[in-house]
Amino acid sequence: MKQRGYYSGFGGAFIPEILVATFDELEEAFQDVKDDPDFWQAYVQLMSSYSCRPTPVTFAENLTRFFNGARIYIKREDLNHTGAHKANNVMGQGLLVKRMGKKRVIAETGAGQHGVATATMAARFGFECTIYMGEVDVARQRPNVFWMERLGAEVIPVREGTRILKDAINEAFRDWVKHMDTTHYVLGTACGPHPFPEMVSYFQSIIGKEARKQMLDADGRLPSRVYACVGGGSNALGVFSGFMNDPVELVGVEAGGRGLDSGAHASRLCSDDASVGVAQGYKTYFLQDNDGQMKETHSVAAGLDYVGVSPILAQLKEAGQVRFEAATDEEVVTALSLTLQKEGLIPALESTHAFVQAFKEAPSMSKQESILINQSGRGDKDIFTVADAFGDPGWQAFIKKKAEEYHA
Ligand SMILES: Cc1ncc(COP(=O)(O)O)c(C=O)c1O
Repeated sequence: MKQRGYYSGFGGAFIPEILVATFDELEEAFQDVKDDPDFWQAYVQLMSSYSCRPTPVTFAENLTRFFNGARIYIKREDLNHTGAHKANNVMGQGLLVKRMGKKRVIAETGAGQHGVATATMAARFGFECTIYMGEVDVARQRPNVFWMERLGAEVIPVREGTRILKDAINEAFRDWVKHMDTTHYVLGTACGPHPFPEMVSYFQSIIGKEARKQMLDADGRLPSRVYACVGGGSNALGVFSGFMNDPVELVGVEAGGRGLDSGAHASRLCSDDASVGVAQGYKTYFLQDNDGQMKETHSVAAGLDYVGVSPILAQLKEAGQVRFEAATDEEVVTALSLTLQKEGLIPALESTHAFVQAFKEAPSMSKQESILINQSGRGDKDIFTVADAFGDPGWQAFIKKKAEEYHA
């Protein structure tokens, strides 16, 4: 166990002996790039020519009028290439892998966004690519599996455990142990052993850097509050990082699933169901039972359906620097519908959790204030889940017809 990478006792690197040299190599390479201003320049250049950066901040005029309170702005991470903030982390790690001279990348994915982003990066840089994905997520995010495979990645459905994100992470670590000389594990969120939480947050900090300046340009002042959904915590840490030293309230929104009393949720930082433990190589709040067995989690949003949470967010919660809330599946579907109809935006189900909380609070805020919501991704990938939630008969007829065509 290493002593580095602790955030008030959270974090660390609880890794098997066999991986210590690989982690040391990664940490060294990362510290090198952090100290090299040319690297950040190269990263920004890559993201602006390949992934639409800087992503804009959009004034949500109609929603602002509708709620009649604080002015609502939206940071448009959905406009990244591959449709989510995941591209920031993945392209950054891609540049790092190139520098380290490795030829193969592996990744875990929940919603599939990180998998698609990693497969895209691998295609661009010419790396071999394997993606681990829980069988449950393969079934609910099939379109992303289709694209990962077309991009040249091998997608391995994970049939262990509850067959979702945490199980995919376990499999990815097993692969890494076997192939560490040639392979880099592109962890998709600000979790896992050190240096991943720090490294992923570093690449995602591009969101906050841009957003702070954009809010000053657009509104002449900083927002009173910034909202972001929290799965592992990478988009939240990315946008929050721009406002950490400002008088801005930071609000992280977790998956409330069927309600915090239902046991069917993925809320680690604002429910009583989580406790501090060590799993998957790091120490944080986990949804676990008294014996340390991971509990089943639930969310309508595959990308938030995870038992652990970034150790950096765990520290920020304990320090009172970030407020945590939860949004239920039902609230998410309602907020998505409103955002579609009022603004013509299709936020991912994950991102919509942040919209729910912002919509609850905006009406009671003053019209002189503004708020910023991080739209971490676009919702096109959610078409099957959302169509089911809306009970759309036209869509159901289309799917039935397609299924019949395949049977014919
Ligand atoms: C669009 C989108 N937003 C948010 C998340 C949650 O991840 P994180 O908390 O690391 O930002 C995911 C994860 O897959 C995602 O696809």
